[in-house]
Amino acid sequence: MTLSRRSFLAASGAGLCALGVPSLARARAMPVLQAGPSSAQIAPLPYPVTPVWAYGAEGVRGTIPGPEIRVRAGDRVRRRLSNGLSQPTAVHWHGIRIDNAMDGAAGLTQDAVEPGGVFDYDFVAPDAGTYWYHSHNRGWEQVARGLAGPLIVEEAEPWTGLEGATTREITCMLDDWRMVETGAIHEDSFGALHDAAHGGRLGNTVTLNGTSDTALPVRAGERLRLRLINAATARVMPLRIKGHAMTIIARDGFATVPEAAEQVVLAPAQRADIVIDCTGAPGSRADILLDAGRGDWVRIATLAYSGEASLPPVEAPVRPLPEPAWRAPDLDGAQREELLMEGGAMGGMAGAMLDGARLDARALAEKGKVWAFNGIAGGMDTRLFRIDRHRTMHLTLRNDTAWPHGIHLHGHHFQVVARDGVAQPGRVLHDTVLAAPREVVEIAFVADNPGKWMIHCHMLEHQASGMMGWFEVA
Ligand code: C2O
Ligand code: CU
Repeated sequence: MTLSRRSFLAASGAGLCALGVPSLARARAMPVLQAGPSSAQIAPLPYPVTPVWAYGAEGVRGTIPGPEIRVRAGDRVRRRLSNGLSQPTAVHWHGIRIDNAMDGAAGLTQDAVEPGGVFDYDFVAPDAGTYWYHSHNRGWEQVARGLAGPLIVEEAEPWTGLEGATTREITCMLDDWRMVETGAIHEDSFGALHDAAHGGRLGNTVTLNGTSDTALPVRAGERLRLRLINAATARVMPLRIKGHAMTIIARDGFATVPEAAEQVVLAPAQRADIVIDCTGAPGSRADILLDAGRGDWVRIATLAYSGEASLPPVEAPVRPLPEPAWRAPDLDGAQREELLMEGGAMGGMAGAMLDGARLDARALAEKGKVWAFNGIAGGMDTRLFRIDRHRTMHLTLRNDTAWPHGIHLHGHHFQVVARDGVAQPGRVLHDTVLAAPREVVEIAFVADNPGKWMIHCHMLEHQASGMMGWFEVA
């Protein structure tokens, strides 16, 4: 578009009203977010680089993770997705209470963008917090190949964590890759039904900011805010830092009452902001540990202390983040719905609906479906429920399977009200909640964002094989 604003107005004449003001805004250059093939040093040297699919700025090769997008609460995010992949794609801005048309849910809120095509995302990020963006088409392959990046929404007033001092922050995007000996991604397992029916496509290489065994440089005495994001498609990550206590100050982007913890558990797509005091000695190292299963804690990265003399240690307690703008759901007048999860290995799913027909488990498996929500195996054609705008939804997530599931709701943050009938503490907000095998998790939220919203398991192989549906706020 080379027309100046004035000549554009003159040329469009009476057509202006039909075009509307947003078209004028969009005529300004949009920063490009290019999705395309790239390569990255995922496995440690001397392994070769790994061919990946990644996001980059215009004319810049994509990186793992994708470029960090950073705005202030209330700002607009504007990106032109340019699809340099060989298959259609779309970008979802995970956790943002977003305008429905910008949600990036291919097949529901937009058509996937064809190879060579573009799509303009332009939305307000209303709430401060740690978010991320990722592909929302064939996520089980596209996210697993690297199409994800951090989206950080800063507090309107800079937060410092303690009076009179600056707290450094580090974004830590965690991921899990299934690699082969040559350093390439294990491609043959994309779409494997065995993984889908179990815990998903677990990897063998865990990375922090795109590299395995990353060393994060720190200085003795400083206080750090770590923004942890689990971008893995399947792996639940229990995390600790050896010798360092943590204070959790936000979950899924939203401030919590600061909570001292030994470890933090992140389901796929979940985030936590934690504060740690760097109490190690100059020149020392501290392992960042992941429970790789059954209490087998393995090092995935380290805090690498510089040799500089220690700063005076911070004595002040961790200052809470400002309370989020959020309306407590009123459970009395709530609309009650249930989401029944069924299927998977060691499950007893007799059958489910697919494309309007009822199929038995064997016929479903032949079509790649091994899970169901409310007896429907992941069709986008059926709405799960509808709720009037501004009403409270009380939703019971009933995990009737032998596997954990990280259930994600688009467009809203919800409160976890109860687990197995036990009331949960007040203001802990999530956009993704982990439901353990056989667990019943009750959540509630005010349905104040109109549109069609996806609800799905964020173990993306589960999503693809049946654990996905949508609801409508109207
Ligand atoms: Cu993070 Cu529907 O996705
Ligand atoms: Cu799942």
